[in-house]
Amino acid sequence: MSTNRSILIVDDEEKVIDVLKKTFEDEYTVYSSLGGIDALDQLKRHSIQVIITDERMPKMSGMQFLKEARTIKPNTVNIILTAYTDITVAIDAINSGNVYRYIVKPWDTDELRLTVRQAFELYYLLTENKSLTDELLQKNKTLEAKITELKTAQEKLLRTEKFMTIGQLTASIGHELKNPLSRIKSSAAVLQSEITDATDEAKELLRIIDNEVMISTKIINDLLDFSREREAILNKTNLDHVIDQTLQRLKIPSHIVVDRSTVDDIPDLLLDEGQIQQILVNIILNGIQAMDENGGKLYIRTSVAGNKVQLSIKDTGCGMNSEQLQKIFEPLYTTKPKGIGLGMSVVKMLLDKHKAEIKVESRENIGTTVTILFPVHTN
Ligand SMILES: Nc1ncnc2c1ncn2[C@@H]1O[C@H](COP(=O)(O)OP(=O)(O)OP(=O)(O)O)[C@@H](O)[C@H]1O
Ligand SMILES: [Mg+2]
Repeated sequence: MSTNRSILIVDDEEKVIDVLKKTFEDEYTVYSSLGGIDALDQLKRHSIQVIITDERMPKMSGMQFLKEARTIKPNTVNIILTAYTDITVAIDAINSGNVYRYIVKPWDTDELRLTVRQAFELYYLLTENKSLTDELLQKNKTLEAKITELKTAQEKLLRTEKFMTIGQLTASIGHELKNPLSRIKSSAAVLQSEITDATDEAKELLRIIDNEVMISTKIINDLLDFSREREAILNKTNLDHVIDQTLQRLKIPSHIVVDRSTVDDIPDLLLDEGQIQQILVNIILNGIQAMDENGGKLYIRTSVAGNKVQLSIKDTGCGMNSEQLQKIFEPLYTTKPKGIGLGMSVVKMLLDKHKAEIKVESRENIGTTVTILFPVHTN
């Protein structure tokens, strides 16, 4: 730490300044001023630790000067020179905390020297204290950052553990359920073709069976996708075709209107059809569930955006706040009583395999838009 030692002397009597200068200039760097305004200017220009100021000065009193000096150099240690009659002012000044000591004129030189020495000691003690406090604050901040880091690492660990538990459970249950489900599905299909004179109600029931099987398959596939690494098998595929097929199979509730649009020139994409269906089911079901009670509109659009194909699925449902939106791709994050919270994390994982990007925008009580950009392979 530098131990600069400079005093600023302020007094309207030149004689007083001369005497004080002589007293201190051997030991300290001494600056002086005949009045407060010039003294404030000196304070701005020099590094000063201790101020000795007269109280009674014509344009600006010593106390006024010290008050303004504080805004320029808040840490100087201040000594006030005062006539015996002004002692109460000096005592008030000390109590206000802006003045360290007062010296009564005429002063005793030894006493003044001692006071100034103590003032410098105090200054450096306070400065050192401040830098220690600053250091402590800095260390605290580092500690806080480390705690946050630790929390994040802990959460990550927890997630990995959750993954492993899901993996073990689903590998067995998933396989057990897949076969009965596919038998239900094929039986329903056979029934549909066998009963040619089925009533409308029977047809509707068969469609419900097919739809429920599809939802159950979604759940199993979501779970299985977490329990094993399944590579995408990419084939040239027409995205619009997969969307339309999925929409036909999903039972869209009657109070939800689907608004579907596309443009003519969508190129074929390299897709794993089964995985794309799963992605679509997950996103569309989320949209339907978000609008379930009051109904609404589901917009599904495909378009070409530069060298990408864009798919956007927008609902007019309950939407999400920013906290929910942040967690949407977290496995097992759900706000639904019957949700598992795997839908969107599977979507993200499968899209990664397709090198496709996904973006979700949402506004509470207005709706949600999921936008996916698929790369177009030119050969
Ligand atoms: N379109 C949407 N509108 C409003 N909230 C949504 C939407 N999509 C997702 N969310 C929110 O994100 C959460 C996670 O969605 P995700 O699909 O991963 O799981 P889930 O739908 O709860 O359960 P499941 O595993 O059955 O899909 C939902 O619980 C919901 O809070
Ligand atoms: Mg879901």
